[in-house]
Formats: sequence, C-alpha cells, structure tokens
Amino acid sequence: MIPLVCPSANLQGLAEELASNLRIKAIISNQPTDQPYLYLSEAGLSFFHPEARSKNKFQIDFNSGSTGWRVKRANHEKLIKKALGKSDRPLNILDCTAGMLQDTLLFLSLGHKVTALEQSKILFYLLQDALRRRDDQSIFEKLDLIHTNACSYAAQAKNFDVVYFDPMYPLTKKNALTSGKLDYISKILEIESINNDSLEDFEQLQLIPAKKIVVKRSIKAEPFSTQINYQVAGKTTRFDVYI
Ligand SMILES: C[S@@+](CC[C@H](N)C(=O)[O-])C[C@H]1O[C@@H](n2cnc3c(N)ncnc32)[C@H](O)[C@@H]1O
Repeated sequence: MIPLVCPSANLQGLAEELASNLRIKAIISNQPTDQPYLYLSEAGLSFFHPEARSKNKFQIDFNSGSTGWRVKRANHEKLIKKALGKSDRPLNILDCTAGMLQDTLLFLSLGHKVTALEQSKILFYLLQDALRRRDDQSIFEKLDLIHTNACSYAAQAKNFDVVYFDPMYPLTKKNALTSGKLDYISKILEIESINNDSLEDFEQLQLIPAKKIVVKRSIKAEPFSTQINYQVAGKTTRFDVYI
C-alpha cells in the first residue's frame, strides 16, 4: 500500500490516526516522492499518482462544484429524474457505487434520502474529508455514507425504493481521456487490488428487495439482463431500469 505524506508537523497526530485507520505508513516530510501517495495538508486529504493523466493531486471538493455541477449536468439530471420515475414523497435510495458522490448529490438535491456505499477505503476517506470541508452541510443531512462492498451489504439492505448501480466502465483510451477523475479512481482501485466483475455484482444486487434497480451504462454497452423493463437514454449514457 501507499504511504500517507504529511508536510506539516502540526497535523502529525491527525496523519498518524488516519494512517492507522488505513493501515498504511505516515511520513512526516515535505520531500517530494515519485511514488503514489496520499497527502494530508491544511487544505485536506488528496491522492497523487505519478502515472495519472492529470499532474494535479486528486481531491474531492463539494464547495466549488456546488452550483457548477448542477448547471453542467442539467441534462443528466433530467435523465436520472426520468429513470427514478414520478413520486409524491422522497425516495429511499441505495447508491451501491458512491464514487465521487456526483449522482448521490443529484438524488439528495431532488429531496431523496441516500445510503451510499463505497468499497474503496482510500476513496471513502477522500470523500469523508471532502464532506468535512463542505461549507454548507445541509444537502448532506439525508446522506449515510458507508465503506463496504455493496454485495456484502446486500443481505442487510431493507426498505429501499431504488437500488442504483453505476459500475466502472472498462477503461478504453477514449473514456480514459475524457475523465481524469475516473482515471484516478481506477488507479486507486488498482492500488487496493479491487477488481469488480460488474455482471456478478449486478446479479447479487438484484436480490435486494426494492421497487426498482437503476443501472447506469455506456450507451453502447449491452444490458446486464434480458429482464430489463425500460431504458432512459442520453447521448453517451443510458439508464437501464429493472422493476
Ligand atoms: C463509476 S464510479 C461511480 C461514480 C458515481 N456514480 C458518481 O456519480 O460519482 C464507480 C464507483 O463505485 C465503486 N464500486 C464499484 N462496485 C462496487 C461495489 N460492488 N460495492 C461498492 N462500491 C463499488 C467503485 O469503487 C467506484 O468508486
């Protein structure tokens, strides 16, 4: 596993606690290293990988994105709304693939309650750090973020209206180029030796009692099952709905 580098002696206690939770080594130093590492400074927790496409450290930020992501993602929001369907009360959603919580943020902004699951410990701590730094906490009041694999959680999952599943797409040259952030996530999963079989995961998640499963797929991908009820398609992405 990678080390946690912290340049500030003031943060030594915090760095050591975090490193111990992650079962990694804390290095209190401001010497640059050319290996992948987590980085804790006054600005929060971030991740660096020398072979990532982006030369910047990867940090999740819910402050600057708070207005931007909704404007940019208006079309995405329309599709997700359609996939969720009409409801006159807030839904209880299980987001099995938290990632950077972008889709969860949409669900929350629509007034729903979300339990979001993330299997990667590194990503989970990056998310927790971003949540801690968020100025306005109100949107996260109805969020429960849990570090676990969704298939392990499935047996205890109860009372959800919607199970949402957005697995990693296989990284092709094209989509790797379009998203530096997904490139970082796949590097994190590689470091943690996490390798999902999305179809197997889907089959497990289908056993969760819920009114519907919504699966996000690339427009060109085959649905996971022939039992699909309907699709909501955009230009590059599609939502497959199973009732
Ligand atoms: C494509 S990203 C999801 C992006 C997310 N929907 C968003 O809007 O930011 C996939 C994420 O789901 C996580 N993931 C994939 N399969 C999972 C599983 N079975 N259990 C928990 N997390 C999973 C991956 O670790 C990765 O962070």
